[in-house]
Amino acid sequence: MLGLKLLTDPRWANIAASNLHEILSDHAWCEQKAASNAITLITQNPEYEDLVHELTAIAIEEMQHFQMVIDIIKERGYVLSRERKDDYVGRLMKFAKKDGSRNQAFVDRLLFAAMIEARSCERFRVLSKNIKDEALATFYHDLMVSEANHYTTFLNFARKYATDVDVEKRWQEWLTFEGKLIQSYGTKEYIHG
Ligand SMILES: [Fe+2]
Ligand SMILES: [Fe+2]
Repeated sequence: MLGLKLLTDPRWANIAASNLHEILSDHAWCEQKAASNAITLITQNPEYEDLVHELTAIAIEEMQHFQMVIDIIKERGYVLSRERKDDYVGRLMKFAKKDGSRNQAFVDRLLFAAMIEARSCERFRVLSKNIKDEALATFYHDLMVSEANHYTTFLNFARKYATDVDVEKRWQEWLTFEGKLIQSYGTKEYIHG
């Protein structure tokens, strides 16, 4: 799925379902961080008109997802927990190249975003297929479709604007790195836990 090297053990969905307050809170913050990441890409690369336009739409959509999740949190009688550090995303961020050319850093930031969208999409799929709560299963199915589109957008911008990067080769390096990284996860009630 989306080139991912390792798929999530469906039993992770049971862990997530056993602590809805935690998974929903963590999910809400993932959406907020996705919006922030899109905004950062816009502020650092304003000369790409189509990227500014499309990532503005993504930032808005991610905040709409945030709103949907906090509405669910409220409906269920929970209160949004404080943001926690996302260890998985932190490790991906470390893998992203920052010391090469401006174009290399730009392309890697796009691939970093595509990578998180791909794994989030896969995790939403696992939730949609395995969670017993029907309303939540449908919700996660819809979000899965949306994140898959974001994945494509980020990857296509990397392909379009790379000048001194072999994007296909670099994307394979990302997939390989992530495939090993994700082996340490899948046991906690977080979207990337
Ligand atoms: Fe989202
Ligand atoms: Fe997204």
